Amino acid sequence: MNVVALIERKRNGGELAADELRDLMRAYAADEVPDYQMSALAMAIYFRGMTDAEIEALTTAMLASGRTLDLSRLTVPRIDKHSTGGVGDKVSIILAPLVAACGVAVPMMSGRGLGHTGGTLDKLESIPGFNVRLSLEETARQVERLGVAMIGQTGEIAPADRKFYALRDASATVEAIPLISASIMSKKLAEGLTGLVLDVKTGAGAFMPKLEDAIRLARTMIALGERRGCPTVALLTDMDAPLGIACGNALEMEESIALLRGWGPSDLREVTLALGAEMLMLAGKARHEVEARHTLEAALASGAALEKFREIVVAQGGDARVVDDPRAVLAQAPIQWEFRAERAGIVQRVEPRAIGRAIIALGGGRTQVSDSVDPAVGVLVHSRPGAAVEAGTRLATIHARSEASREAAAAMVREAFRVGDEPPAPRPLVSHRVTARGVEELTFAGAS
Ligand code: URA
Repeated sequence: MNVVALIERKRNGGELAADELRDLMRAYAADEVPDYQMSALAMAIYFRGMTDAEIEALTTAMLASGRTLDLSRLTVPRIDKHSTGGVGDKVSIILAPLVAACGVAVPMMSGRGLGHTGGTLDKLESIPGFNVRLSLEETARQVERLGVAMIGQTGEIAPADRKFYALRDASATVEAIPLISASIMSKKLAEGLTGLVLDVKTGAGAFMPKLEDAIRLARTMIALGERRGCPTVALLTDMDAPLGIACGNALEMEESIALLRGWGPSDLREVTLALGAEMLMLAGKARHEVEARHTLEAALASGAALEKFREIVVAQGGDARVVDDPRAVLAQAPIQWEFRAERAGIVQRVEPRAIGRAIIALGGGRTQVSDSVDPAVGVLVHSRPGAAVEAGTRLATIHARSEASREAAAAMVREAFRVGDEPPAPRPLVSHRVTARGVEELTFAGAS
């Protein structure tokens, strides 16, 4: 295969054929194409884009580089949710047991935190013993038994994507809609789903901050899912401020368990219920949103969702005491330092990327795929955009391992908050619903 010719053609705005992409990804997964050529190709795609046919072929090629989850023995619908990622986004931890408790199989495959965004796997691993590295056979057995498993991408699932994503991360080529779409959908389509709900974030902390890019990303992924017989729906949700209060792995686990108990931040609850309702409707478990929300609320109120979470923790080797007494089990940072408002006014901004950078400075995030994370550290964001504060009101609490990291994080947290005289423009938490039929702007459901 002449890889230079492929790079050259893409660089000059030409199109790659399906068999060329298939052979290339197969050779790359087999270590027969060097990283420097693949990063040149990724950069050419970043600037030149891809046609729909190329995106489809790339997705198929990455999917075909590995195995797929066989859930054909299940008679119930199999639905997953994927988020494009953000700060404080712990929705998956609540949604997987909640939707499974409503009779839907949820084979949930998540990622690790990278850059300013957190990752569900790191949050799950804040529970001592919790194992996210299940094989495909173990995952299938657990989903058949419990209706849910929460796993990471193993070497068996889309290995070409795993290698290519790590390379893109190191070559500034992540933020390309064709590459993100093919990467996410090659993994999701390997799960043997009967439906998929996408949470596409918009706003300053999102991969695709601009609304029109987020819509384009959603439509590209929906087309990939639908063409392969996996009905796909996307909600565009706000990531202009962190979601919920807790940001950082163990802190977010504690907040997720609180929400499973029926209390927790209202923005987190609202986004979780909106996505969960889409999952239930795709599964045919509810005819409309009101009915779906009613079912979800009932599963929270009865404790069924919390009990399903306990079953997941036990099945995957975690310390199940976390369910009843999270603080006794989850790591606690030795230093807790409060950041207070310097003046009275209204919180205009809580910049999520700055909070994400603070978490990295504390040791709770990654700048490279190979970094390890400290589960105990993070930031509690007590005041949201729109909140009225006095001089001295507590805006955030930093949980740090050392005084030096606390100081570095404090500078970033200070940078994240802006307090002024004017209220910020309200932003809907869930702004649009995108399906194969088109884009629907949702009625304003309240400020974030
Ligand atoms: N998440 C993925 O899995 N792949 C991307 O390219 C971006 C986000």
